[in-house]
Amino acid sequence: MSGTADFSDQVVIVSGGAQGIGKGISSAFASRGAHVVILDIDEEALAQQQEVLSAAGASALCLRADVAEELDVDASVNHILQRFGRIDVLVNNAGIVDTRPMARRPMEAWDRLLAVNLRGPYLLAKYCETALRRSNPGAIVNIASTRALMSEANTEPYAASKGGLIALTHALAVSLGPEVRVNAISPGWIEVADWKKTSKRSQPHHRSTDLLQHPVGRVGTPHDIAAACLFLASRDAGFITGANFVVDGGMTIKMIYEP
Ligand SMILES: NC(=O)c1ccc[n+]([C@@H]2O[C@H](COP(=O)([O-])OP(=O)(O)OC[C@H]3O[C@@H](n4cnc5c(N)ncnc54)[C@H](O)[C@@H]3O)[C@@H](O)[C@H]2O)c1
Repeated sequence: MSGTADFSDQVVIVSGGAQGIGKGISSAFASRGAHVVILDIDEEALAQQQEVLSAAGASALCLRADVAEELDVDASVNHILQRFGRIDVLVNNAGIVDTRPMARRPMEAWDRLLAVNLRGPYLLAKYCETALRRSNPGAIVNIASTRALMSEANTEPYAASKGGLIALTHALAVSLGPEVRVNAISPGWIEVADWKKTSKRSQPHHRSTDLLQHPVGRVGTPHDIAAACLFLASRDAGFITGANFVVDGGMTIKMIYEP
């Protein structure tokens, strides 16, 4: 079972893997024996996660790269192949948010968000394709969001990027099969305040109503998403491709109904 899935000798790329959910994912793969490569734009966070993983005896390579930039992605993938000679798993996790109202959101912000959240995963898939096919079975896991399926006000570019990422997931699954499986995870509310770099870290606080809107009685943690990610990247998930897994403690299936 994936609970004990072993990724020894496999090379796993995690974008945005230095903080938040990505930190949970990169740590989980490292603890299962993978050579973990983290691509992130935050050098302070990269240095800290490199230290954490090295102290745990893990094999980790932390590279500064902007996933929206083709030159960065090209150079990073070349670097990884020169160092390890293979890529087995790609986790497209890096993502940004913008909650300004439309009237105050410049179009450059729309372009940047779509570039990071949607162009980035496509670029990484494109540059990793040959190596992932060679790995056979290779796996891609795209971190989407329940906001692809439901919205609050002022989240248009984010919702559109995540809806696009779910569509990109099934399109890639068809193009890259049978050698590579491609799936998405849509996290709900995942608390990351205590998974940031030390200068940004804070203690999470949740109101009882925050907990009550989840049938499981709590908000999520990066461990919850990492566990789903390990499963989807493992051989146990060999018959799953093109799928979107909602991992949200039941938040999106709960009706808010006041009689
Ligand atoms: N936290 C949640 O509740 C939640 C819910 C649903 C989906 N998600 C998705 O999960 C993913 C991770 O979210 P998080 O809350 O952990 O975010 P976070 O901000 O805590 O961490 C994101 C990491 O990505 C890096 N990053 C940002 N832009 C980048 C770029 N252009 N290139 C490379 N790295 C970049 C950041 O430096 C940071 O280390 C995102 O795709 C997000 O949309 C999060």
